[in-house]
Amino acid sequence: QVLSNPEFLAEGSAIHDLLAPDRVLIGGDETIEGSLAIKKLSWIYEHWVPKEKILTTNTWSSELSKLVANAFLAQRISSINTISAICESTGASVSEVAKAVGLDSRIGPKFLNASIGFGGSCFQKDVYNLIYLAESLKLEPVAQYWLQVIKINDWQRERFAQMIVQNLFGSVSGKKIAIYGFAFKKDTADTRESSSIYVCRYLIAEGASLHIYDPKVTSDRIHLDLSEQTGLSERELRKHVKIANEPYEAAKDSHAIVICTEWDEFTKLDYELIYSTMQKPSFLFDGRLILDHDHLVSMGFNVFCVGKKPPKNQFLNQSPL
Ligand code: UGA
Repeated sequence: QVLSNPEFLAEGSAIHDLLAPDRVLIGGDETIEGSLAIKKLSWIYEHWVPKEKILTTNTWSSELSKLVANAFLAQRISSINTISAICESTGASVSEVAKAVGLDSRIGPKFLNASIGFGGSCFQKDVYNLIYLAESLKLEPVAQYWLQVIKINDWQRERFAQMIVQNLFGSVSGKKIAIYGFAFKKDTADTRESSSIYVCRYLIAEGASLHIYDPKVTSDRIHLDLSEQTGLSERELRKHVKIANEPYEAAKDSHAIVICTEWDEFTKLDYELIYSTMQKPSFLFDGRLILDHDHLVSMGFNVFCVGKKPPKNQFLNQSPL
């Protein structure tokens, strides 16, 4: 018998997710042999998972549920990211809106963090998989609906990169920009489909000189990813991209810091010290909403982030050195 037993493990919490899963899903043939096979696999899980959390279904339901779970999570991120754009124009704060909306127990608080777009090896692939399935079933409106989740994700990445160029007086050509974070999320060295790659690609195309710092991603990985995405040879790329060993070095003499990954480390840095070593005016773009923006503005930073109108009174005391 062939069973379907999708995993719902997230990187960084995989062991916990395995030991204490929200549910275990086992799909199989609707035959006597199929149901015996399902029971056997279920018995293994019952050693540590409460029986009521083990769902048994037919094969199609199980396989489809995996795609739908990831598609719904991706959809929530795209949904909140569309709202982040409205917040930036209206003065609403996307974090406040997400909190207010998430307190509705029917909606729930998780996966409502606005960002520079979801990355990772799973979400985009699984949404595309769902789109392909809908297309092959000739369900074009369904395919178009889910395609929008990907399009919004691409748009959010580009929108953030454009925000950087626009606020740096319309050009980043020749300007040093510190990129904080290259992994697709914190606590992993995985860069697959990382939004950071797309933001960097955009800035490289605009002529910026990037100094990238990530606590876990290796410099070879960063060069390889960017070389693939930009089409530049690794040698050519090294003219535009430097890898820093620590965040202070990356920010020194830069015009701007761009937060791409929500590493905890970035919340604990000495931004007064960092500010003192940067070009003036100094900019900070927070793509993950992890920093205290008012405090940064009080230090002299010009701060821009997803989902929030830029704080007032910026550009005071900002004459170039
Ligand atoms: C995801 C699912 O969460 C797992 O349940 C699933 O098993 C796994 O894919 C898989 O199919 O193998 P993972 O890719 O490890 O897990 O990462 P997530 O924690 O889901 O994050 C995905 C992306 O969404 C990251 O770039 C993250 O930064 C972003 N994200 C997440 C947001 O932008 N906002 C949020 O509120 C949450």
